[in-house]
Amino acid sequence: MKNLLKITGLFLMLSIVSCSSGSDDDDPIINPPPTSITYTNTISAIVNGKCTGCHGNPPSNGAPMSLTTYTNVKEAVETRGLINQIETGNMPKNGSALTATQIQNFKTWQTNGFPQ
Ligand code: HEC
Repeated sequence: MKNLLKITGLFLMLSIVSCSSGSDDDDPIINPPPTSITYTNTISAIVNGKCTGCHGNPPSNGAPMSLTTYTNVKEAVETRGLINQIETGNMPKNGSALTATQIQNFKTWQTNGFPQ
């Protein structure tokens, strides 16, 4: 009888251990890496390469506003239709259009709430 109890106890312990080893903590599908389009790592480089020639501080060549800070660019997306301007190719004015990836980066940045 004592042996039977020991064996039952061992069996219970083993089944508890095997259950807890099925943890989902590092499952890549359940915990995907965060999307990391930020102003600092992506957006500012595009704007500095393509836009600040006119949208500098102060703006030049007739551009109506600066795009030199995080707040400038965020506000231009929110209130000046920046994404529409780059999708239609209206901006950069007189320059080569942004690539599809660069345009998508702006959209992802907006969707994710403008990470800084
Ligand atoms: C060669 C100068 C020049 C460059 C480069 C340029 N812009 Fe412009 N931008 C202008 C001018 C001038 C206007 C005024 C409206 C117009 O002429 O279409 C303007 C207007 C805008 C507007 C609309 C503002 C409003 O309130 O209506 C947005 C948004 C904009 N630009 C974004 C950008 C972005 C983003 C880039 C870079 C990808 C860029 N621009 C590059 C000159 C430029």
